[in-house]
Amino acid sequence: MKYMIAPSVLSADFLNLGREVQQLNAAGVDMIHYDVMDGNFVPEVSYGEGILRAVKKNTSIPVDVHLMVVDPLKNIESFAKAGADRITFHLEACTNAEEVIDRIHAFGIPAAISVKPGTPVETVYPYLYKVEMVLLMTVNPGFGGQPFLKESPERIASLRAEIEKRGLNVDIQVDGGINFETVLLAKEAGANVFVSGSSLFGGDLPDNVRVMRELL
Ligand code: DX5
Ligand code: ZN
Repeated sequence: MKYMIAPSVLSADFLNLGREVQQLNAAGVDMIHYDVMDGNFVPEVSYGEGILRAVKKNTSIPVDVHLMVVDPLKNIESFAKAGADRITFHLEACTNAEEVIDRIHAFGIPAAISVKPGTPVETVYPYLYKVEMVLLMTVNPGFGGQPFLKESPERIASLRAEIEKRGLNVDIQVDGGINFETVLLAKEAGANVFVSGSSLFGGDLPDNVRVMRELL
């Protein structure tokens, strides 16, 4: 299984975003996680297409856009055109998930479906056949720096078992409270893509990424 590290830009120093992107390049991370929050699906507003274009101009690392927005169908085209290399949306935020997945694929990029911790993991099973990745939130979305929810490993293990039972090749991404300890809990349960914000951006990012990579 390929293990991937995806630092979350939400924890970057926004006044020095150029320097932060250079650090991500230097650390050789697998993906850059870009959280889009609409102040509706989650309480706060983060950033949009303009900042994504600026980030994309300064890196060749794939950018994974995590849409925490109501009615994600409306936002796919503009983020795909701004350079999203893959797009994740929330099952809770849309009425027709198949349509959202098809729209993402129409731009030639991988699609991921996500659920919040309170949504049963089985609700994503009907879509496994057509997504490249599932994002299991390991905190309630909306803010960085929250603790990893302890019921998460069981949810990850159920999903991994279902993917294997069906003989599919779907990545499991975890997001929220991932640090040097919880990354191992998530890995042991069956996750392979690890989003981490406050833990990787606190201190020396390339060093932190190296430590996390050695642990995996
Ligand atoms: C939370 C976001 C996360 C956040 C993770 O709603 O989706 O990507 O940046 O931050 P940490 O790793 O600090 O929990
Ligand atoms: Zn996220």
